[in-house]
Amino acid sequence: MRLDKYLADMGIGTRKEIKKLILAGLVTVDDEIITKPDHKVDESSSVCLEGEPLIYQQYQYFLLNKPAGYLCTKDGSPNVMELVPNYYKDLNPVGRLDKDTEGLLIITNDGHLTHQLISPKYHVDKKYYFECDKPLPADAAAVLSKPIEFSDFISLPGKLELISENSGYLTIHEGKFHQVRRMIGYLGCNVTYLKRTNYSFLDIEDLAVGEYRELTAEETEKLKGVSDNE
Ligand code: URA
Repeated sequence: MRLDKYLADMGIGTRKEIKKLILAGLVTVDDEIITKPDHKVDESSSVCLEGEPLIYQQYQYFLLNKPAGYLCTKDGSPNVMELVPNYYKDLNPVGRLDKDTEGLLIITNDGHLTHQLISPKYHVDKKYYFECDKPLPADAAAVLSKPIEFSDFISLPGKLELISENSGYLTIHEGKFHQVRRMIGYLGCNVTYLKRTNYSFLDIEDLAVGEYRELTAEETEKLKGVSDNE
């Protein structure tokens, strides 16, 4: 296929934008700078954009360790989208983390998977490490393990694993606005630090704060099955 189509299929940009990148000499094929948009490539060609190898795939899936202070909203800066490659079209976070929350965020342009993962029909486990301003009550785990009625929803049972009297892990199954802060708030405490450590089977132990990596093909496939299983 033509080089410009190959790049367009990967969501690198419009044909016009891609033509500019190619003419600017930013694209190599098998280590050679190619400046002709109609240059022929196939799936075995080694194509790089600004030195970054591109692996031919329809969608991209990134795992980011979000730093505190970054927004997950469409606009506004600093934004999590500044932390992943910016030449793929339609990338969006799967759900949101608050500005002050750190940790695991999936970013993809696979709208179908995003829709499945955030749908209230499916209950993907999300685990958070938190610290709060005062000791949690003795019955905290028992209280959070039962549904709690908030003004806009009733939470599914959560799992609290205490580390100290004012820190621990909370696993929840929905992704409502400020959910962890509100569940801890229900116990009379305020969250002072929050980090998502796990999303279903995924963790971010191999990523420093602000770093990202691509999900492997196995992880992507498993994630597609998660919303059916959890
Ligand atoms: N719960 C919260 O309170 N904040 C987040 O960012 C995620 C879950």
